[in-house]
Amino acid sequence: MTTRLLGRAVFRWSASQPLHEVPMEVFDDARTSGFQPYLLDIGGGFPGNNDQLMQDIAQHVNSAISTFFPEQDIKVIAEPGRYVATASFTLTTTVTGRKDHKNEKGQITSIKYITDDSVFISFKHFFMIYTLSHPRPLKAENGSEVECDVWGDSCAAMDVLVKCVALPNDLRVGDRLVWFNMGAYTLSMASEFCGFPLPHVYRVASKDTWADIGTRLKLLYQRQRGPRSREERKLITETSHTDQIFAKLTV
Ligand SMILES: Cc1ncc(COP(=O)(O)O)c(C=O)c1O
Repeated sequence: MTTRLLGRAVFRWSASQPLHEVPMEVFDDARTSGFQPYLLDIGGGFPGNNDQLMQDIAQHVNSAISTFFPEQDIKVIAEPGRYVATASFTLTTTVTGRKDHKNEKGQITSIKYITDDSVFISFKHFFMIYTLSHPRPLKAENGSEVECDVWGDSCAAMDVLVKCVALPNDLRVGDRLVWFNMGAYTLSMASEFCGFPLPHVYRVASKDTWADIGTRLKLLYQRQRGPRSREERKLITETSHTDQIFAKLTV
């Protein structure tokens, strides 16, 4: 018998019911009912953009496991999802509008920037909780920073991408915003709601990384008794010419 906790649960360490109590209760109930639980699945929720936080979580998890599940016969596994994907994508969006809020002296106190993405495309907040990216302007920052909200351009009342972030006060229509760590629950969940297009994807890798991927892929295929299909053979041939591929990817 197994017991498992789903994604994001890891972050509830400080909640009123400590996380380890949940599986402990389930394990106890199971034993009372005559089962022998042997596998604890702690699910996902591990951040992919914050190594320090990840180390802290690992420490908590390890110490909770050894304190509360000292039995040798219990295996513990995790299901990291966003941990793997978060840092792999960087999103850029374009400012499509702005609305300035001014005080009685006419000074800008806050700005609402509008940009060409939305909660229906790359910003599924429910899933991005804990990993929400803070945008930065692509161009060199000249203006002083002011408190801003960034809205999507779907016109939906809920389409707020981030609130109360510091951004330069001089961004204009056409300027780019850069959002790091946008690999988890973004493009994979995006929809073309109301006809808005999905973002284009450009693959970027350093020469060394790409060469490394090519070598690993070749090894993998060799281990799997060689290529089976024409496509696989093509991939191997191509990845053995990593410079060419790199050139293709960076066009
Ligand atoms: C069963 C299961 N395991 C693991 C995950 C990964 O969760 P996370 O991306 O929060 O690490 C999910 C996400 O939906 C899930 O449904």
